[in-house]
Amino acid sequence: MPFDQYHEPPDELSQETRTFARMIVSLIEEAEAINWYEQRLSVEKDKTAKSIMEDAQSEEFKHFGMDLEFLLRKKPKWRKVLQGILFQKGDIVKNGKKAEEAAE
Ligand SMILES: [Fe+2]
Repeated sequence: MPFDQYHEPPDELSQETRTFARMIVSLIEEAEAINWYEQRLSVEKDKTAKSIMEDAQSEEFKHFGMDLEFLLRKKPKWRKVLQGILFQKGDIVKNGKKAEEAAE
């Protein structure tokens, strides 16, 4: 189904919202690929195959990051929340609560 990413009639959505939806789906797919490689790596015995898969997973890290950055540029509030969570030391849940409050 090519239009599964929409939960509203696509012809009622703006071009910007359709692009946002496509990038959200892309982000999900990159996360899935990272997960799949992680599982393959945990069971692969061949060193060369494992090395190739590690290289491929690194590509997916990059793709995930680029997708996320695109989305955050479109959603300043999302960026503000994540700035209080990502790359921060300390308790993740506490940081999340503080970040949510700061973004309101
Ligand atoms: Fe990818």
